[in-house]
Amino acid sequence: MTVNHSPAWLALNAHADNVRNKHLTQMFTEDAQRFEKFSFSAAHCLTDFSKQRITEETLQRLIELAEQQQLPQRIEALFNGEKVNPSENRPALHTALRQPKEQVLHVDGLDISEEIHASLERMEMLVDQIHNGQWRGFDGSPIKNVINIGVGGSDLGPLMTCRALSQFAPAHIREINVHFVSSMDGSQLARLLTHIDPASTLFIVSSKSFSTIDTLANANTAREWLVNASQLPVELISQHHFIGITASPDKAAQWGIPKKNQLHFWDWTGGRYSLWSVIGMAIALQAGNENFRLLLSGAHQMDTHFRSAPLTENLPVLLAMIGIWNINFLDIHAHAVLPYDGRLEHVPAYLEQLEMESNGKSVTLQGEQLNYATCPILWGEVGPNAQHAFYQLLHQGTESVMCDFIAPAIRYQDQGEDLKAQHQLALANCLAQSRLLALGDSVLDDANNAPAHKRYRGNQPSTTIMLDKLSPESFGALIAMYEHKVYVQSVIWEINPFDQWGVELGKTVATSLLDQFTGQSTMSTDSSTEGLVRFVQQQRQE
Ligand code: F6P
Repeated sequence: MTVNHSPAWLALNAHADNVRNKHLTQMFTEDAQRFEKFSFSAAHCLTDFSKQRITEETLQRLIELAEQQQLPQRIEALFNGEKVNPSENRPALHTALRQPKEQVLHVDGLDISEEIHASLERMEMLVDQIHNGQWRGFDGSPIKNVINIGVGGSDLGPLMTCRALSQFAPAHIREINVHFVSSMDGSQLARLLTHIDPASTLFIVSSKSFSTIDTLANANTAREWLVNASQLPVELISQHHFIGITASPDKAAQWGIPKKNQLHFWDWTGGRYSLWSVIGMAIALQAGNENFRLLLSGAHQMDTHFRSAPLTENLPVLLAMIGIWNINFLDIHAHAVLPYDGRLEHVPAYLEQLEMESNGKSVTLQGEQLNYATCPILWGEVGPNAQHAFYQLLHQGTESVMCDFIAPAIRYQDQGEDLKAQHQLALANCLAQSRLLALGDSVLDDANNAPAHKRYRGNQPSTTIMLDKLSPESFGALIAMYEHKVYVQSVIWEINPFDQWGVELGKTVATSLLDQFTGQSTMSTDSSTEGLVRFVQQQRQE
């Protein structure tokens, strides 16, 4: 029996018939205690679900669905290192990366905790060498610029976290400019190479597989730039200017990264779950080793909560189940992520990969085509800017959209009054927008007299996630909460969130098309592809 024919799902369907036509305005009028009933706190995060279109019965029935799907057992399976990624026959142990050293975890008879901490300590040692100016470029210059070359999980997590935590860098570490290069077209790299000094630049080539063409193309360009600038042999350049972070050491060595310049992680760390591993080196370079440890500790606090709290007050579980309610029972298939703090500007892009690459699936774990909705379309932007871009659609468009508002409760505590006032302005806007989305123009006394184009219908559900303040710990907890949310949803939908077969064929087809541009292949494709290739060739000849 598929989940959408199961008793708990059918009960939710019947319950949804009663809730679907209820407006959030009515729900708030009928129950003055919604905030008290539907907001929950743990690990630096308060999550307010009261502006979701739920009742107490909804939550109860969602928890019944989670229990029916054996969620508690599946949570244990994740933490215990069971093979929760069957199509690649391996566990997904990102939670182990943030466990304290003394917590032992055996996988296939081996204690992986020791290996994890050894790898982390080696990364910290290299970070110290770079900060202290001991790591030198080809002419003896200390490193000033670090460029992380990677894509997907080898880029988005470190980039997001560097931007979120850069202000926490302790005064005693030498400032390093950390840059990120991901796009295969070379734009980001070309821009950087025009104004940085080769001798004081270090490249971190981050790639789990060390075979991603996007990353290798950028790494090749970087190496050629350094060899040309220094006129030194490539081996010497590699020693002074390249660190490789990978789960495929042999491939990194083949490319030319000496073993002593490599940091390793494991195939049981999914790419989009890897920022907690040595892939996070850019974070430690930007914010310091201690803050990297605090980030891990915050994530571990959320892990502990997720593993031990009852389902009824478990933040990732509630976040996930209310998402399921919106998607599968209220037919909402768009999800906007709206941080009201510029330091969180890259959170939406990170979540696009985390959620859509994990749960953008339509085949069950048993390999059957499923016939219910899974991951919605997720996008986002810093809230205050999005207000001037796409909020029009949220308020008056034809699509139902669920939103996550994210903000820290306090900011700029030891800075000027003007900045504090700016934070309050952002918070007032955050709360105003979620209020208006929920209640529409019923917040006004005379809305009924307004012309149609000025009306706001409301009833758009949202969750507000309020951090006590932004810190390495609260940020770690926030991201871990989303990771676990994704896992919970995959359990309910009976899909594998840890593989990404849907990105593979594009790579193969692109490789086979490469030769078409040079005329070395005349493989027949389709009229559109052939027409476009012809156009490129004509432009080249002109
Ligand atoms: O193409 C998708 C993907 O495999 C992601 O899952 C991954 O994060 C990214 O490419 C980068 O992979 P790698 O770290 O192996 O270069």
